[in-house]
Amino acid sequence: MSTKTADDTHRGTVTLKVFRYVPEEDEDSYFKEYSIERQEGMTVLDALIRIRDHQDPTLTFRHSCRMARCGSDAMYIDGRQRLACNTQIEDLDLSTPVQIEPLPNEDVERDLVVDMDGFYDRMESVEPWFQPDHEPETGDEYLQSHENRQNIDTVLDCIWCGCCSSSCNPAGNDDDFTGPAALAKAYRFFKDEREGDETRQRRLEMLNKSHGLWRCHTQFNCTEVCPKGISPTEAIMEMSKEAVKQKLRFWR
Ligand code: SF4
Ligand code: SF4
Ligand code: FES
Repeated sequence: MSTKTADDTHRGTVTLKVFRYVPEEDEDSYFKEYSIERQEGMTVLDALIRIRDHQDPTLTFRHSCRMARCGSDAMYIDGRQRLACNTQIEDLDLSTPVQIEPLPNEDVERDLVVDMDGFYDRMESVEPWFQPDHEPETGDEYLQSHENRQNIDTVLDCIWCGCCSSSCNPAGNDDDFTGPAALAKAYRFFKDEREGDETRQRRLEMLNKSHGLWRCHTQFNCTEVCPKGISPTEAIMEMSKEAVKQKLRFWR
């Protein structure tokens, strides 16, 4: 039986080029390079933690679950929105330093930490809570068909990481645009048969406005970067189609 030694897991070094900015100290942001030993299975988050713990305790970033569940370590890694804990160093182009920046489209608070208040406000704006317009048909529970649950299965996985909004050009240029994450969240409730037709109609009216559904350019950026495989674009397209259908019905 062979035993794994440190040499088996040591894969040379990797250099990270990390965005730095402390508003109280720095006039401008800058990049700082760190080289560390690369280990088998190392993620970008592992590398950042190693740097913080062994080289530079001032480096600031958010993280929590380390398993793509909490959404707190979304960053712009080598030109793409990703979760640091979900990104293997080995999957990146290591011929040049790995560039790590805060999420674009959001204000930087410090180093890799961005202000997510605007993102949360957009999420809240679609009233992301269950609002049935009737009493349950039987007993105390609202029953949902298996098929209806399956329809919203993927969207339910949203972890509020903000990767999609950060990749969305209209969201970056328009603070009033509901944005892909909130529209996908709205879809989760719009499709839930337990709320009833009245709530469904009210939800559609809430989104059927120029800074809502119609601000989307359907360019799929949000869908491409979502670490949970959600497609806000398709959700938006489906709700837009429904809004158009209703308008046509009205004019008949
Ligand atoms: S598809 Fe729509 S919501 Fe998604 S990134 Fe493009 S414009 Fe934004
Ligand atoms: S839809 Fe995807 S990218 Fe957007 S916040 Fe949710 S999990 Fe993150
Ligand atoms: S640390 Fe929780 S999603 Fe990455």
